[in-house]
Amino acid sequence: MKVVLFNGSPRAKGNTFHCLNMVVEELEAKGIECELIQIGAQKLNGCLACNKCAENQDKKCVQTSDKINEYIAKISEADGVVLGTPTYFSDVSTSMKALIERIGHVSRANGGLLKHKVGAGVVAVRRAGGIHAFSSLNFFFLIAEMFVVGSSYWILGIGKDPGDVKNDDEGVQTFKNLGKNMAFLLKKLKE
Ligand SMILES: Cc1cc2nc3c(=O)[nH]c(=O)nc-3n(C[C@H](O)[C@H](O)[C@H](O)COP(=O)(O)O)c2cc1C
Repeated sequence: MKVVLFNGSPRAKGNTFHCLNMVVEELEAKGIECELIQIGAQKLNGCLACNKCAENQDKKCVQTSDKINEYIAKISEADGVVLGTPTYFSDVSTSMKALIERIGHVSRANGGLLKHKVGAGVVAVRRAGGIHAFSSLNFFFLIAEMFVVGSSYWILGIGKDPGDVKNDDEGVQTFKNLGKNMAFLLKKLKE
């Protein structure tokens, strides 16, 4: 079983990374392979609405100047997906938005590449707007016909400077429980 996790923060070792890493620790403790992919600060274009993905039916985006097709392939093979983003002006980062648009459109145009996979959103926030960013991630999972995993609180880590989220005790517990719950669901789905 494999879970791919995407970090949409340009700060590769910032709070979003630490939030994701806490989920990884729990998943790996349950024997689930994890791959954390850093996408923040990468130049990822948004969807061009050319609909070539629907015409071509090749599970690919025709924009090949970035790594989105590599990510589509990785997600297609994975059992679970975790999207992590910092809160930027009360929403997801630009890199995360580009990932959602391109993967979401190619997936829908090709019969639902993400259907029945397990998904979870993870958000780092300094003060406010994190719930809106969290909702953006969940809207994506839901229209992709994925199974969204919850935790003991909405899945936010409070912090400003890199590493601050590790001092957010309730946040830490939320990420750990998310990892446990995701492992539980993944194993149930394989039974
Ligand atoms: C461009 C930008 C916009 C931000 N917008 C918000 C915001 O709307 N609300 C908030 O609480 N924090 C906001 N922040 C703070 C980050 O969400 C916060 O520092 C977070 O922990 C960053 O995660 P990272 O270390 O993974 O990059 C913003 C930061 C930047 C750089």
